[in-house]
Amino acid sequence: MGQTVGGAVRAAQQRFQTAGVETAGLDAQVLLGYVLGVGRAWLIAHPEAPLTPDQAQAFERLVQRREARQPVAYLTGQREFYGLVFQVDERVLVPRPETELLVERAIGLVHEWLARYGQWPRVVDVGTGSGAIGVSLAVTVPELPTVNLVDVSPAALDVARANAERHGVAGRLRFWIGDLLAPLPAPVNLVLANLPYIEADVIPTLAPEVQQEPRLALDGGPDGLDPFRRLFTQVPTHVSPAGVLLLEIGAGQGRAVAELAQVLRPQAVSVHPDLAGLDRLVEVYLRE
Ligand SMILES: C[S@@+](CC[C@H](N)C(=O)[O-])C[C@H]1O[C@@H](n2cnc3c(N)ncnc32)[C@H](O)[C@@H]1O
Repeated sequence: MGQTVGGAVRAAQQRFQTAGVETAGLDAQVLLGYVLGVGRAWLIAHPEAPLTPDQAQAFERLVQRREARQPVAYLTGQREFYGLVFQVDERVLVPRPETELLVERAIGLVHEWLARYGQWPRVVDVGTGSGAIGVSLAVTVPELPTVNLVDVSPAALDVARANAERHGVAGRLRFWIGDLLAPLPAPVNLVLANLPYIEADVIPTLAPEVQQEPRLALDGGPDGLDPFRRLFTQVPTHVSPAGVLLLEIGAGQGRAVAELAQVLRPQAVSVHPDLAGLDRLVEVYLRE
């Protein structure tokens, strides 16, 4: 007899538990829902529904990949971020919910800039990956003429471009390959950055799923702060004198990054916690 929805979910859940997956039941439902093109509520309401052999085979392939601890988002090829569905795969970091805080603050900052200077700021999302930050900003603030997206990984930039097209903002975005701010042809006013900030030695101790994400998206060097140091050396030549930097940081890096930013002799530096009360954003105001 063929598999049913309920039986397939139960069997996958057990295999995921054995593999050490914490969200075993949820993942089993999400993956079967993806194969069948239905939501989790449908699966729960139809446990006796049969799977066709093709569906069972497609599900088995995904179950094996999840047992190998590949992130669910890579298996379904998508992740929701800031209310938008982003295409993701092995070329990019899976966007995290805590990064939505940066987008929210960026929306506030572009409006503050407009109110203060009577024009929209020139914005860059450095280390754009899937384009999560820059694309969300462009979608949410349709009046903003342009957002620059930079990544050192051409493969990541291809994903960002696909997401920009998917959300209808590709015409307002500019894509640059290179090191941090270096490829930008003119100074910007607002720098948004979720750069790699994990200490290199810590990466092998993280969940297997994280270790399957691009090393380039995670590795912040021996103390996790190298990308900030290097970014700050580029600021004087690539950011306007009154510019603002909005940087995502790791929990516990607030003080260190705020101290490193002193090299810019800024007017003000503040550290913002996330909803869990952990350091999450550093905001640097250069000068009037
Ligand atoms: C932590 S991921 C963030 C991705 C995306 N912004 C997000 O928030 O989901 C960091 C990104 O920075 C890129 N990156 C790393 N070093 C870089 C560099 N020197 N210049 C530009 N981008 C870099 C990586 O390729 C990766 O896409």
